[in-house]
Amino acid sequence: MTENPDRPAPRTVRVGLLGCGTVGGALTELVTGRCDDIAARTGVRLTVSRIAVRDARRPRQVQLADAVLTEDPASVVTADDVDVVVEVIGGIEPARTLITTALRSGKPVVSANKELLAHHGAELFELADAHGVDLLFEAAVAGGIPFVRPLRESLAGEDVTRVIGIINGTTNYILTKMTEEGWSYTEALAEAQALGYAEADPTADVGGFDAGAKAAIIAGIAFGVALSAEDVHHEGITEVSADDIATARRLGFQIKLLAVAERFDDNSVAVRVHPTMVPEEHPLASVRDSFNAVFVEGRAVGELMFYGRGAGGGPTASAVLGDVIDASVNLVQGSHASLGVFTPASLRPQSELPSAFYLAVEVADQPGVLATVAGVFGTNGVSIRSMEQVGADGDATARLVFITHAAREADVSATLIKLRSLDVVGSIDSVIRVLGDA
Ligand code: HSE
Repeated sequence: MTENPDRPAPRTVRVGLLGCGTVGGALTELVTGRCDDIAARTGVRLTVSRIAVRDARRPRQVQLADAVLTEDPASVVTADDVDVVVEVIGGIEPARTLITTALRSGKPVVSANKELLAHHGAELFELADAHGVDLLFEAAVAGGIPFVRPLRESLAGEDVTRVIGIINGTTNYILTKMTEEGWSYTEALAEAQALGYAEADPTADVGGFDAGAKAAIIAGIAFGVALSAEDVHHEGITEVSADDIATARRLGFQIKLLAVAERFDDNSVAVRVHPTMVPEEHPLASVRDSFNAVFVEGRAVGELMFYGRGAGGGPTASAVLGDVIDASVNLVQGSHASLGVFTPASLRPQSELPSAFYLAVEVADQPGVLATVAGVFGTNGVSIRSMEQVGADGDATARLVFITHAAREADVSATLIKLRSLDVVGSIDSVIRVLGDA
């Protein structure tokens, strides 16, 4: 792009980068490759002046231009030749201390650190506001999908009632392969590890922790409340069986690991992550492989969906770069973005949340058993939407598959306790929530 002769010469903004792994390296290359275009468009010329790394002598594939490499990250945040700090090292410490120091010295910060923001976001946003600088974090949730800025800016006046996300690519890949290729959980996990999606210890992804941290951040910005990852109920995908997936498909559902953040009419909120049966016709059912998507429901705007890559060097660096440009333009203009005031969250207890359920129950195949089992649902206030029995003639047992209408989780738990106590019930093999209306 040619520069506009009427525009003043671009003002240089110097970036101090904390971390030069996959995302930091991709960001450095993007800044080098795109800085002329960015300068022509925005009037701000970006340059990476300092980079903190763990081992400064390690050979690197990315061109670091004239940046100074150091093993002392604290020196980057306090350096006179750093105007904007980018934190891509992850984890709570030293990231929290480094970001605090940068904000206190009036430097805008761009962070991709979901763990830090999920635990200490409210405190850091307040600090940024108090010092009149930006703390931007588009890449911390759903990687390359521009979703945080639309939520905090375009939808600032919207009464958002529910946000539903597929925000962990690893688990979405595993569930997709189990669904489409008929792989077992173990086979799909091994392939996810071979592709570099899942870590050697996959607990953060398959246990729902990663999605839980992201869900806490989403709920904070969607509802303007202060909550942390500890407030998120999370269940992972390790109990989802090939049988569940086959039954779900037959009944017209896909099983997805969903993060659901809801605000109720009394302003209480709930944030949960769990495997969910998603109706085939819902837009989230078509989100396959390692892709992410965030589905927003608002009273005026209706339904919106944001879709793309939730991880990876290029997509994440693209989101970081957008924030760096925003923070740099704001810095030059002497302004900053604000998330506004976060009020303490009033959390609705899990037991009070409404949800429809899919239940698979092994029972004795005898006269009167169905009536007995169905009666337990009724006496606990759980209404059955559909039921099917699977079991060959002559088998001593049958499998009953129920889908309920929305019920209080406490009532479903009471139903399960009573069912387990019955002699005619052998086992309850699956309990999976079903996505329905808010
Ligand atoms: N491990 C995450 C995922 C990416 O699979 O989506 C980083 O949050």
